[in-house]
Amino acid sequence: MAADPRHGPAPDLWDPLVRTSHWGIALVVLANAVFTKGGSSVHVAIGWIGIALLVLRLAWGLVGAPEARFGAFPPQPRAAIAHLRSLWSGKPGHYRSHNPAGAMMVYALWISLAVVIATGLAMTTDSPATIADREAIVTSGDWSTLAGTSDAGDDDAQDEHARKWVKEVHEMAANLMLALAVLHVAGVMVESRALRRNLVMPMIFGRRK
Ligand code: HEM
Ligand code: HEM
Repeated sequence: MAADPRHGPAPDLWDPLVRTSHWGIALVVLANAVFTKGGSSVHVAIGWIGIALLVLRLAWGLVGAPEARFGAFPPQPRAAIAHLRSLWSGKPGHYRSHNPAGAMMVYALWISLAVVIATGLAMTTDSPATIADREAIVTSGDWSTLAGTSDAGDDDAQDEHARKWVKEVHEMAANLMLALAVLHVAGVMVESRALRRNLVMPMIFGRRK
């Protein structure tokens, strides 16, 4: 049987783009989920950094370094379950890129982020700079600037309903992403223990010991 090119020792390097986009996305998600006010200019500006990082990383999945390409970690639910079983039995395989269970998690995180971004964009008709201008005016005590903004058609109940719905999905996807991120970190810890190999170091420094 021909050797599966996806198996083998893990890569010596997560290249700089994978590492930068990983920690960048983690920071963006944390900042917007915990520290910024939803819908504020800062929230939207940080959101745009997230959009740029996700787009870059997905493009890298097509043309990037071999371990970073989607083909190196295809979504394979059966293989993911088999990998979780192998962790249980104490004999997990080594993979060049993300292991099959990790790969499913990576796609789930990216999909949730894409939903957060799409719904965030759908709610944002103004640029961060315009929102910042409006915030400054409101802070100065003049609320009139809020009349005539994106949800101006307050008389239009349908619009209002749609916006509420989009906001609901935005929040749900954001919460889902946080829950997945916690599971993801737990998975990294379990896998590191099972393989007796620190998986976090290569994501920080690139090199594996
Ligand atoms: C990247 C991760 C993100 C997370 C974790 C996140 C999280 C949240 C949360 C929890 C809220 C609800 C706040 C509340 O209850 O009022 C919110 C609101 C909002 N977010 Fe995000 N968000 C993210 C990205 C984005 C992006 C990329 C955009 C747009 C480009 C965006 C635009 C908005 C807007 C406009 C609201 C206000 C909704 C409203 O109050 O009507 N968000 N976000
Ligand atoms: C909101 C927080 C986080 C998100 C959204 C996130 C998302 C991701 C994504 C999308 C990947 C795939 C990377 C790629 O191929 O580009 C990944 C990999 C990885 N993440 Fe995270 N991550 C988060 C937090 C963390 C934290 C806090 C740690 C460290 C404790 C961590 C450790 C890792 C490691 C070690 C990998 C590579 C796993 C492997 O060797 O296959 N992540 N993460």
